[in-house]
This record gives sequence, structure tokens and C-alpha cells, in this order.
Amino acid sequence: EKGGFEHFMLKEIYEQPKAIEDSLRGRMNASQGWIKLGGLNEYINKIDNADRFLITACGTSWHSGLIAEYMIEDLARVPVEVEYASEFRYRNPIITEKDVVIAISQSGETADTLAAIELAKERRALIYGICNVIGSSIARASHAGSYTHAGPEIGVASTKAFSTQVSLITLIALQLAQVKGTMPTSKLREILYELENIPSKIEETLTLDAQIKEIAAIYKDASNFLYLGRGYNFPVALEGALKLKEISYIHAEGYPAAEMKHGPIALIDENMPVVFLATNRSAYEKIVSNVQEVKARKGKIIAVVHKGDTQIRALADHIIEVPETEEILSPLITIVPLQLLAYHIAIMRGCNVDQPRNLAKSVTVE
Ligand code: F6R
Repeated sequence: EKGGFEHFMLKEIYEQPKAIEDSLRGRMNASQGWIKLGGLNEYINKIDNADRFLITACGTSWHSGLIAEYMIEDLARVPVEVEYASEFRYRNPIITEKDVVIAISQSGETADTLAAIELAKERRALIYGICNVIGSSIARASHAGSYTHAGPEIGVASTKAFSTQVSLITLIALQLAQVKGTMPTSKLREILYELENIPSKIEETLTLDAQIKEIAAIYKDASNFLYLGRGYNFPVALEGALKLKEISYIHAEGYPAAEMKHGPIALIDENMPVVFLATNRSAYEKIVSNVQEVKARKGKIIAVVHKGDTQIRALADHIIEVPETEEILSPLITIVPLQLLAYHIAIMRGCNVDQPRNLAKSVTVE
């Protein structure tokens, strides 16, 4: 049942190319330049005219929501707010019938997310669900939606659910951009072509497994980790840190790289491994200077960079070279080495990666 893998988590990490293909199948065509999300078309008028999107989710799905915020605002120029479902439901938020609420949930059973959409429904917002489990409570409670089609995710740590959520979100952002005319058709096609290439680029990234395992062996006894990224890689930093803490029980924090100097920089010494997501084309020089700041304080630098990078290679203790892609799609690639790093560290520490202590696959109590 684990398909020759030792753990479900590893199997699911390796399933990501196929899961993404499944999540995109029939929903886009790059050469013909179309995107068709069934669930989106049905309500396209309301979605088209939405003054803003509210996204609600928990945990890893909330990280996908952050990526959605960056993408939808960047590509479609519609305001987006992202909320932890547990806060949203209790803080008396402003929600009107003009709002579209996107709920993201692998299990479709997360109690806080479900309660958040019930509240939004009472206030007459349109609910769009992005779920993996077919027929789940959140899928049923939504007016419209799309399934991620990642297949069953058994490992408690979410991996392929995250990458398929991000793939779907990309389609939503592109479809909105198309409808709103905020993006030239040629650019839209370029991104669609690149999205079709993502599964093979993830395959290529997975071949770095042995190298990542060597890095894991060096840092497995660390008591803290920092993950830093900017732009589209900031949510990836949060997600990388969450993967590490939940399965290896090492304290880890994700931060926007530039925010480091507002506090976390005080933590950096020769015992602090710092994982940089440094694949951005925009803000590259700024990331280089963030890397220099860590190096000056003797932090250990593990950097995820594009193939052929030279500047960061010269500064980092370890580099993980991933294939280059469109910047907006980079989370789909850069998350993969972080999933593998967390996996190997947890195994080396003797942790039960598929069923970490204190965690359940779906959190049906608040
Ligand atoms: C992290 C993880 C959790 C879930 C969160 C939301 O790896 O698994 O943080 O992402 O509990 O779960 P869903 O997506 O089922 O609503």
C-alpha cells in the first residue's frame, strides 16, 4: 500500500508530479490557451464582480491561501484577505453578499474552517471550496468549488495536498486575470505552458533526494531552524518550517527574509541553520544581502537556488539547485526540497513521520 516506499509521507512527496497532473487535467490547455474550472464558471458572474476575496483555512492550507493572495492580487488585481479560520470565525469580521470566500481544506472536515464558512454563508457570501476529499463536509457546505484530485493523503504532514492546492489556485488566479483582462494573452499562455512543465521539474527536483539526505545528517541534532524567503517564497518558508516542526519536533520558524532584522536575527549564531529560499528573480539582490547578514553572524546557510546560481553559492554552506520556473510557480518547486529535508531529519531522529505525536489528520474539534 506504500508502493515500495517506507512511509506514506515519502510516497506522497514522490506522487506530487502525478497529483499535479491530475489536478490540472481537463481544466486547462496551454496550446489552446484556455482554463476551465467547472466550479468557477457556474458562478463566474458573481466571482467576476467580487469586490474582494476572503480566504480561510488552517495550517498548510492557510499557507496555500497566502500564495493565493499573492497570485490573485498580482495577476488579477482583486483585493484578497487571508484569515486563519479559527480567528475569522470569532472576530466578528466584515462579510457581505458581495464577497467571495474561498475555503481551502485537504480533509474538508476541519472544524474551524467549516464554522468559518457557515458564518460567511449566514452573511450571504458566495463560498468556493477547494477540498481534496470528495463529498467532505466543507465540499458539501460550499456553493461551488473544485477538488484538488491529489488522491488519498495518509501521512499526517500535508505534502501533495499542498501542491495540488497551489496548482488549482494558479488556475483560479489565471482565469480571473483572463476574465478581467489584467494580463496579456501571451503571458497567460506562457504561464500555462510552464504549469504543464511543473510535474517534470518536480521529478527533476526529486533526484536531489540523496543530496538533501546528506544535509539532513549534518543538521539533524539542531534545536532550532529558521526558514527565510521573500515574495512567493515567503509562504514556502512558513510551510517548510511547519513540516520540520510537526514531524521532527525541532523548533522552526518561517519568516519573510527582510523581517529577520526586526528580531529573529538575534537568534543567529554558529548553531543556527538557516534555510533560504532564493529562487526569486525579482528581489534577488535583496536575498543575497539577507544571506550575507546571516553569514556575518556565522549562521549555517542552506540555500535553495536556481541551477547555475553563482552569487549565493559563494556564500552558502550548502546549496540545493532546483530547475528554474516562472516566479509565481516557484512554490511548487521550492517546497519539495523542504519536504524531503524535514522527512530525512525526522527519520534520523527516530520520529514516526506518518503519525507525529499529538497530531491528527483532520482536526474535527476546534
Ligand atoms: C500540516 C497539516 C495541518 C493541516 C491543517 C488543515 O502538515 O497537515 O496543518 O494542513 O490541519 O487541514 P485541512 O487542510 O484538512 O483543513
